[in-house]
Amino acid sequence: MPEAQRKILVTSALPYANGSPHMGHLVEYIQTDIWVRFQKLRGHLCTYVCASDSHGTPIMLKARELGITPEALTDGYSQEFVNDFGDFGVDFDNYHTTHSRENEQLVGSIYATLRASGDIYTRTIEQSFDEKEGMFLPDRFVRGTCPVCKTEDQYGDACENCGATYSPEDLIDPVSVLSGTKPVKRESEHYFFKLSEYGERLRQWMKDATLDRNVVAKLDEWFEAGLQDWDISRDEPYFGFKIPGTENKYFYVWLDAPVGYMASFQQLCDRDETLDFDDYWNTDSEAEVYHFIGKDIMYFHTLFWPAVLKGAGYRTPSSVFAHGFLTVNGQKMSKSRGTFIKARTYLDHLNPSFLRYYYAAKLGPTIEDIDLNLEDFVARVNSDLVGKLVNIASRCAGFISKRFDGELAAALPDEALFAQFAEASETIAGHFESREYSKAMRQVMALADQANRYIDENKPWVMIKDADKSAEVQQICTQGLNMFRSLMVYLTPVIPAVADDARAFLGESSWHWRDASTPLLGSRINKFKPLLTRVEAEQVQKMVDQSQENAVVPEAEVKDDFISIDDFMKVDLRIARIEQAEPVEGADKLLALTLDVGDSKRSVFAGIKAAYDPATLIGRHVIVVANLAPRKMRFGVSEGMVLAAGPGGEDIFLLSPDEGAKAGMRVK
Ligand code: MSP
Ligand code: ZN
Repeated sequence: MPEAQRKILVTSALPYANGSPHMGHLVEYIQTDIWVRFQKLRGHLCTYVCASDSHGTPIMLKARELGITPEALTDGYSQEFVNDFGDFGVDFDNYHTTHSRENEQLVGSIYATLRASGDIYTRTIEQSFDEKEGMFLPDRFVRGTCPVCKTEDQYGDACENCGATYSPEDLIDPVSVLSGTKPVKRESEHYFFKLSEYGERLRQWMKDATLDRNVVAKLDEWFEAGLQDWDISRDEPYFGFKIPGTENKYFYVWLDAPVGYMASFQQLCDRDETLDFDDYWNTDSEAEVYHFIGKDIMYFHTLFWPAVLKGAGYRTPSSVFAHGFLTVNGQKMSKSRGTFIKARTYLDHLNPSFLRYYYAAKLGPTIEDIDLNLEDFVARVNSDLVGKLVNIASRCAGFISKRFDGELAAALPDEALFAQFAEASETIAGHFESREYSKAMRQVMALADQANRYIDENKPWVMIKDADKSAEVQQICTQGLNMFRSLMVYLTPVIPAVADDARAFLGESSWHWRDASTPLLGSRINKFKPLLTRVEAEQVQKMVDQSQENAVVPEAEVKDDFISIDDFMKVDLRIARIEQAEPVEGADKLLALTLDVGDSKRSVFAGIKAAYDPATLIGRHVIVVANLAPRKMRFGVSEGMVLAAGPGGEDIFLLSPDEGAKAGMRVK
């Protein structure tokens, strides 16, 4: 019996709009997109919304640093998210921002309800304050010596060496990351949400929701430790929504961020009359709501968020699906190793379907980390997708096209074999439903092996030489193509772009999950074009090289430490005149510069190609570090460094001295 149509609302975490999407993000957005596409293919009404998380201190500061508004900053990154995720086939039904009218309105009404029911109270607290910058400092913006193990240069909330947690006031010799000055303590009135009173209700939610046991274990731990009331306000300056009825208090970004899920859905409902907001969010809703998130933000989604929803009179999530973190070649992503790979850099070199498949082959329902091993990636994609899957079609298609005018046989020669492919349908569906993608992929590939064995055994390429066996060849190839077809239906959520091409090749206009169980017979197929080509290790290497080139400063060398005046005096900063500027063959970002630094000429590579036309640079004065040890780069030796400001890409600004400065002058 077909399952009744379910109404499902799905979200991925809202990415912070102050950085480009990378391979780590993609774990989540691809995982979610596969699940959504699976539900849609099964005929359910599944809606996928997301948005940019546009508020908070880091966004405010980054915008300030760049001299633009936070709106301009977050709009730019939102555009990047939409483009990059879109090119990976991640198909949001709506993408919004938390800095929106819909969100402000929802947050305001939720706050009003919580306040009216006594769930919000104010209390004066003491916090680190940077007098020079005139602002309160989040814990991460204070650094100092760990009070426990005395390791220097630790964050204000926890020590990376001994793991101790504390508040910034406990640090020895604390300094503000913003100004380098010593923070003072200052009092301020804050707004708190009474999370401590939600223990019972949250335990109940935990029982009602179908949570993974990892998540339950975490929740138990937190219940055990006791729930603390939650500080939901921040003082100005802050980029966020002002708390109604206050002059200078703002909602903490984590209060309005999850409400952004609802706001994005609201925006969609306003556009699409078939969707009704209340139908999904009222307490008696029969719709399902799922949040896909990373393990780092479980506390917010399994405690704060359901409590706020309950308090505000909305339904709670049906479940929260947490995944682990991405490692590359077994280690944390790293700029210096070239493994901090942006989504766009991947797209410049490789087919997005490959990554979607690889992640699917690795993903399960737990919070275990997943590893992208680049060698394994190449091997796996070539062997599974190209060698096994596409191979089935390429071995059969030619005969049908050339010998039978593209017409499939009217019956299958081995119905029992096809039945095995059809019967796998519910098991594979079960795996997708429970996010056991790696199990689903294993089963699909085992069936692909079976299909290839069938073709090996029947050898249509031998049989075709025997005129009497012509009809049999048509049947065998029809059998092969139908096995291929069932597998492509099963893989549609994972590699939708490849599935689209396969479907067009088979001459069909749309697929439903159940199509995998009934063969395609007697119809005409189209000419076969290779669906995928092998991935070469060199392409992967180029992607890594480009990621390394992107890195302005190798991670290992970044230190927030101060340097002494003596250290500073060692740096020979000089005015240089650009004599020559040329692009570097094989490097996307570099220009080769010849500089006159007064007493000598220098060859220097500078990553400013996206920002400057070389012709406009000739004759221009810039500031250089003249005594940097020569460094051997892939393209030659660089004998200095040109100073520039900005985040990179097109936004790079050479530091130019005033008129009158001459090549060779020292900068002091
Ligand atoms: N803005 C918050 C989420 C608010 S949800 C109401 C945030 N943003 S984020 O940009 O830092 O992360 C977005 C999602 O990507 C999170 O679920 C996070 O866990 C996930 N990932 C970010 N880096 C990741 C890896 N390296 N690996 C796997 N997932 C990662 O958190
Ligand atoms: Zn310590």
